[in-house]
Amino acid sequence: MTDTPTLLIVWHSRTGASEAMAQAAAAAAAEEGPVRLLRADEAQPADLLEASGYLFVCPENLASMTGAMKECFDRCYYPLLGQIEGRPYAVMVAAGSDGEGAVRQIERIATGWRLRRIAESLIVCTHAQTPEDIAAPKHLHEADLARCRELGAMFGAGLAMGVF
Ligand SMILES: Cc1cc2nc3c(=O)[nH]c(=O)nc-3n(C[C@H](O)[C@H](O)[C@H](O)COP(=O)(O)O)c2cc1C
Repeated sequence: MTDTPTLLIVWHSRTGASEAMAQAAAAAAAEEGPVRLLRADEAQPADLLEASGYLFVCPENLASMTGAMKECFDRCYYPLLGQIEGRPYAVMVAAGSDGEGAVRQIERIATGWRLRRIAESLIVCTHAQTPEDIAAPKHLHEADLARCRELGAMFGAGLAMGVF
């Protein structure tokens, strides 16, 4: 872990909603302290080991976290087991109608790592349920982006102040 607490935001997005959520949280957190934004396919165990806290952001697809985010956990889980216990984390999920399945899975993996959840997991519903809406690029409401910014700011401030 680096001396200055760094928030690592690991994200995956197919049509832009989760990406916008991750960027909103990152911008707000960056006002408080160092932030790294990494796509789930780029994040390696060493990146997680260096960071002080984690924000996991992805869509729900087929009642699960997206495959790219799962692949990231599959790649990092055992190399980090026992090495990041007690570190803080939070989850943001973009969903067309539900999101709970993805949240449950990520929280369960984080429990396996013995991470500490520092906020209620946040679900942004894009109401995409037809094939056309699901394929379309997503534009989030300002209120939803504000929720992501609020979580990012709280996480960044907590890390900077040594509260987490
Ligand atoms: C293959 C596929 C499966 C999906 N399954 C679900 C689902 O199980 N539950 C849900 O709430 N939304 C589901 N959705 C909708 C997405 O979660 C929604 O469009 C979300 O905004 C996508 O986020 P993104 O823009 O970051 O990719 C699915 C979308 C796709 C492409």
